[in-house]
Amino acid sequence: MRPLTARPGSALSGRVAVPGDKSISHRALIFGALAIGETAIDGLLQSEDVLCTAAAMRALGATVVAGENGSYKVHGVGVGGLMEPETPLDFGNSGTGARLALGLIGTHPLAAVFLGDASLSRRPMGRVLEPLRAMGTEVIARDGDRLPLAIRGPKTAIPLEYRVPVPSAQVKSAVLLAGLNAPGITTVIEPVATRDHTERMLEGFGADLDITVEDDGARTIRLVGQPKLKPQPVTVPGDPSSAAFPIVAALIVPGSDVVVENVMLNESRTGLFTTLIEMGADLSFENERVSGGETIADIHVRHSTLKGVTVPPDRAPSMIDEYPVLSAAAAFADGQTMMEGLAELRVKESDRLAAVAAGLAANGVTHEEGADFLVVTGRTGDIGGGTVTTHLDHRIAMSFLVLGLAADRPVTVDDAGVINTSFPGFADLMAGLGADLEPAGNTAGEAKA
Ligand code: S3P
Repeated sequence: MRPLTARPGSALSGRVAVPGDKSISHRALIFGALAIGETAIDGLLQSEDVLCTAAAMRALGATVVAGENGSYKVHGVGVGGLMEPETPLDFGNSGTGARLALGLIGTHPLAAVFLGDASLSRRPMGRVLEPLRAMGTEVIARDGDRLPLAIRGPKTAIPLEYRVPVPSAQVKSAVLLAGLNAPGITTVIEPVATRDHTERMLEGFGADLDITVEDDGARTIRLVGQPKLKPQPVTVPGDPSSAAFPIVAALIVPGSDVVVENVMLNESRTGLFTTLIEMGADLSFENERVSGGETIADIHVRHSTLKGVTVPPDRAPSMIDEYPVLSAAAAFADGQTMMEGLAELRVKESDRLAAVAAGLAANGVTHEEGADFLVVTGRTGDIGGGTVTTHLDHRIAMSFLVLGLAADRPVTVDDAGVINTSFPGFADLMAGLGADLEPAGNTAGEAKA
């Protein structure tokens, strides 16, 4: 456990670049492992989650070689060519790594054991195992379909038509990855659109894919199985979910003026920025350009007076990981911020709805937690002074450290070690902008006061 304290202090200023996108990093390694030949990846996120996926791809027979600054070379084995791993695959804290790999391996005729940390071992895997069972995968799992578990893929998988019952890019992606090694056409219908990185990369790596979009936004994705995937250079853009932390910090710390460079603006990921602008945030998107098929920009953010808004439930998939940090912004907004359609937050790295509510309560922020909603009322009194339990959840840790930077009293998170899951270097990057973050216990200043 590495407790860390954020103290309110001076304005934040400067230019920073956040690490590469987590979703794209996992997928670049996975598609690289399936393509025959060399996939060169630039700017891979070198966080614990993604490094678990890299290790899993090696255990399945791919060659994954790290160069400098996130440049990686992957030599894949071809669809259908994965080797049986000799040891269990450990996905650490990563739901994305575990679920995508279940799909990937589930239709290969081999056995594999999946492990994770305490957080991942609590998360539901049935949402991915159900379609896999229908494709012929055998599963041995403890009650409730949680890790640790073992799977064995069929000799020949059955292609599936599957309607994704929860808005989840992980489930969609797992079925598509499984469909890659099934003869015939696998169809995934998602009633609510979720992040589309898997589809974009499948197309980039040369798979035969057809996507139709209904008037109500529902998407049908048809994939022709057993393609020969071609290696593709992948440049990983900055992660908007990581950029969210310095951006919200700059909005709520008076006098701040910060630029976060190279942030991906894929529409399936930008719900937080839309919401912040509705709240009155001064955000401008500079130097917009297209790289590797994604729009990226430098986001210029200045401290702003925010007002509470209602965030519609249909925006949730495009900002599903950003509600904890939005709650920090809402604590400093005038009036109420109503967030609806949050049921999926209960099955993230922690029960994020409960963890956010507990953190707000510990720091004197008025709020109401419902089964699938959260209402935060900003500026009703002094904020801060509490210790937040992170429950092995990186985004809970970073969100409450951001809250502490603008609070009236310091905020401590019980374990900042978990931040390495997605954002190694977070504390240094924030300190470079002028944030006062110190290991808890280094309270020399406080003791003197
Ligand atoms: C992810 C999808 C989301 C998100 C996660 C990354 C992905 O999960 O919360 O951090 O890369 O596909 P769900 O698809 O389960 O909503």
